[in-house]
Amino acid sequence: MSAAGPPDRYALMGHPVSHSWSPFIHGMFARATQQHMQYRLIDVEPDRFRAEAVQFFLAGGSGLNITVPFKQPAAELVNEMTPRAAEARAVNTIHANPSSELVGDNTDGVGLVIDLEENLRLPLEGRRVLILGAGGATRGALGPLLARRPAVVAIANRTLARAAELAAEFAPKGPIAVSGFETVEPRPFDLIINATSASLDGAVPPLPQALIGTATVCYDMAYGKGDTPFTRWAREHGAAASYKGWGMLVEQAAEAFLVWRGIRPQTRHVLELLTANGR
Ligand code: ATR
Repeated sequence: MSAAGPPDRYALMGHPVSHSWSPFIHGMFARATQQHMQYRLIDVEPDRFRAEAVQFFLAGGSGLNITVPFKQPAAELVNEMTPRAAEARAVNTIHANPSSELVGDNTDGVGLVIDLEENLRLPLEGRRVLILGAGGATRGALGPLLARRPAVVAIANRTLARAAELAAEFAPKGPIAVSGFETVEPRPFDLIINATSASLDGAVPPLPQALIGTATVCYDMAYGKGDTPFTRWAREHGAAASYKGWGMLVEQAAEAFLVWRGIRPQTRHVLELLTANGR
């Protein structure tokens, strides 16, 4: 490690951010790959986001991660977006290019797919996938999911029109179905992904029991201690396995690290530490 000079500076901007595990994750990555960098949390009042983000780079910052509620505002702020960020219409990773233009990227969807296929060994090709919700989290996941050639990605949402809008946009990329929660085609899916923010109010969408077969795996993009309402629901309804989004968190971080540093860190050790009490 070259310790000469101050460390390159990275940060996560969001509101709130104090609960975030990103400093721990990026700190572990930096140590393992011997990168001279620091990563901190910046809680930004919503009306200050644009000014604070630009100021961070003006003051010599090297890269930002962006979380709730600024992923869409970040997409409007940057000078350019990678194709995957443009498709997601959301930015979770920013760096400045050599011409001092801000480039927005989105590593959430690819992080999800890497967690599913590589960490959890759930191949998507030919599988029936159901995703709950039609907001920003689903928009970011659809491109990477469809690229793995599943048999279908069914989108179920409380507001049908939002699901239909996403389906129309992503239809050229693969087979998509849309419905409300109670009207999902009633036969088992291989994988059910919760991308709603419903669990924030302790709720689980009203889904037919027939969606869960003996081999169905459930995945909640949310994470935290213990069960989420969705992983509890999955277990109680006989899912073969259920997982929270810790792996997606770690893999999106590794992809952001790759964007910034040109090195993709190993994720297994960090993920094991974060999920020692269960995924
Ligand atoms: P995000 O960027 O996290 O996806 P979002 O764009 O606000 O956030 O989308 C939130 C998603 O969670 C939406 O699909 C929303 O459903 P609607 O489109 O009908 O609003 C869904 N959602 C939020 N609370 C919910 C609840 N209590 N039950 C079911 N779905 C809910």
